[in-house]
Amino acid sequence: MTTKHILLNAFNMNCVGHINHGHWTHPRDTSDQYHTLRYWTELAQLLERGLFDGLFIADIVGVYDVYQGGVDVTLRESVQLPVNDPVPLVSAMAAVTRHLGFGLTANLTYQAPYLFARTLSTLDHLSEGRVGWNIVTGYLDSAARAMGLDEQIAHDERYDRADEYLEVLYKLWEGSWEDGAVRRDRQARVYADPSKVHKIRHAGRHYRVEGYHLSEPSPQRTPVLYQAGSSGRGQRFAARHAECVFISPPNKEVGRKIVRDLREQIAQAGRHPDDVKIFMGAAVVVAPTQAEARDKHAEYLGHAAPEAGLAHFSASTGIDYGRYGLDDPVGYGPTNAIESATRVAREHNWTRRDLLAQFSLGGRYPAIVGDPATVADALQDWVRDTGVDGFNLSRIVTPESYADFIDLVVPVLQDRGVYKTAYEAGTLRQKLFGQGDRLPARHEGAHHRPLARPA
Ligand SMILES: Cc1cc2nc3c(=O)[nH]c(=O)nc-3n(C[C@H](O)[C@H](O)[C@H](O)COP(=O)(O)O)c2cc1C
Repeated sequence: MTTKHILLNAFNMNCVGHINHGHWTHPRDTSDQYHTLRYWTELAQLLERGLFDGLFIADIVGVYDVYQGGVDVTLRESVQLPVNDPVPLVSAMAAVTRHLGFGLTANLTYQAPYLFARTLSTLDHLSEGRVGWNIVTGYLDSAARAMGLDEQIAHDERYDRADEYLEVLYKLWEGSWEDGAVRRDRQARVYADPSKVHKIRHAGRHYRVEGYHLSEPSPQRTPVLYQAGSSGRGQRFAARHAECVFISPPNKEVGRKIVRDLREQIAQAGRHPDDVKIFMGAAVVVAPTQAEARDKHAEYLGHAAPEAGLAHFSASTGIDYGRYGLDDPVGYGPTNAIESATRVAREHNWTRRDLLAQFSLGGRYPAIVGDPATVADALQDWVRDTGVDGFNLSRIVTPESYADFIDLVVPVLQDRGVYKTAYEAGTLRQKLFGQGDRLPARHEGAHHRPLARPA
C-alpha cells in the first residue's frame, strides 16, 4: 500500500501583513519588499526547492475598516493594506520555476467574466498549465462602496452569481475552441480551423455574453479551481465547482466536521469525495531542538501584533470588536461577511480577550511549535484526525518560516514516506490528481465541451 502524500501550499499575499500580523517589524523579515520582483522570484525558487505543490496567493478588494470604524490599525500595522495585484506575479515566478503551482485569488464580483477568462488562460499558457484560481466573491462593504455599490450583495446571492459566472467561464474555456481547432498549418495557411471555433451564447440572470473565447486552449483549459467558503451555501458551491478547498478550523473537532460535511456534499453532487483536495491553514515555528523552537516562538511573540489580528478578524466577521471591553459579551448577530468565521466565534461566545489570546502570533491559524519530529507528528495527526489532504502554510517571519520548514520538516516527512521526494511531470491538475490535465468528465465544467452538448 502506498502512503498518501501530504500536500503543501505556501500561503502568501502581495502585501506586507498577511495572516500573522506584526512580524514585518522583525529584523529578519523581508515582507516589506513585497513590491519587488526579486522578492517573488526568490520565494518561488525556495518553494520549488522544498517541492511545494503550490504558492497560494490571497487577495482582497477593499480595506479592513470595521475595527474601530476606520483604517488606523490597518495602516499602522499594514494589515493587507497596501496590497498589490497578484496577477502580474505569476508569469515572473513561472519563468524561474518548472513545477510550482500558483493558486491565484481573484474576486469575480467586480470583473467581467469574458475578460477574466482570458487573463487566466494567458497565465495558464505562460506557466505551461500551472495555474489555479481561488474563486472569491468578497466579504467587504468597503469593496462594494469602492466599486460603486451602496453595500455588498447579500451572502447567498453572491454564490448564486458565482454559479452563473462559472457557467460562463466553462462555456468559454471548455466550449468555445474544440480540441484540434488550432492547426498552425503553414503550408495550408490555416492557423485555426473556423469550423471548430464556436461562439458562446449566454443570457442569464446576471450575465450576458456572446462571443468567442479570445485565447486558444491552454494546457488545462479550466485552471484548477480553489474555493474557501465553509457556510452551508459556500459548501454547496464548493461541492459543485471546487477541486481544492481551503479551510481554517480553530480545532480538530471543527475541522473534522467541515471535512465530513464537504465530502458528503461532493458525493451528493455526483462527484467522487476524493475529487476535492482539502487544505487547512497552519503556522509552523520549527527549530532543530524543542528548546530552540520555544525560544524562536518567544522571539516571534515579541514582534506579533494581536490587535492587528483582531482588526483583520473584525473585517472577516463584520463585527467591530473595538466597541467591546475585553470581557464584554459580544453581540453576535447575523452577518453579511464570512459566515463560517462568525458562526464559530458565536458558537464559542469569544470575547475580545479570548480572540487577542488566540491571535498571540498575530493571526488565527493554529500554531505548531517544536523540533522537526514534533512538527511532523502534529501535521500527521491533523491529517489523520480531520481528513484534510494538506496544509496552507502561512508565513510568520518571511522567508524564514518557509526556509525553516523546507530545511527541517520536509526531510522528516520524506523519511516517513508522507511527502514526495521529486515532482511528477505535468500540469498542476495532473500533479494533484494524476488523472490528466483537464477537468474530469464528471465535473460540471466538462459538460460544456462541444461534444458533451446535445446537438
Ligand atoms: C482559508 C481562507 C482563505 C480565504 N482567502 C480569501 C482571499 O484571499 N480573498 C477573499 O476575498 N476571500 C477569502 N476568503 C473568504 C472566502 O472566499 C469566502 O468569501 C468566505 O469564506 C465566506 O464564505 P462563507 O461565508 O461561505 O464561509 C478566504 C476564506 C478562508 C476560509
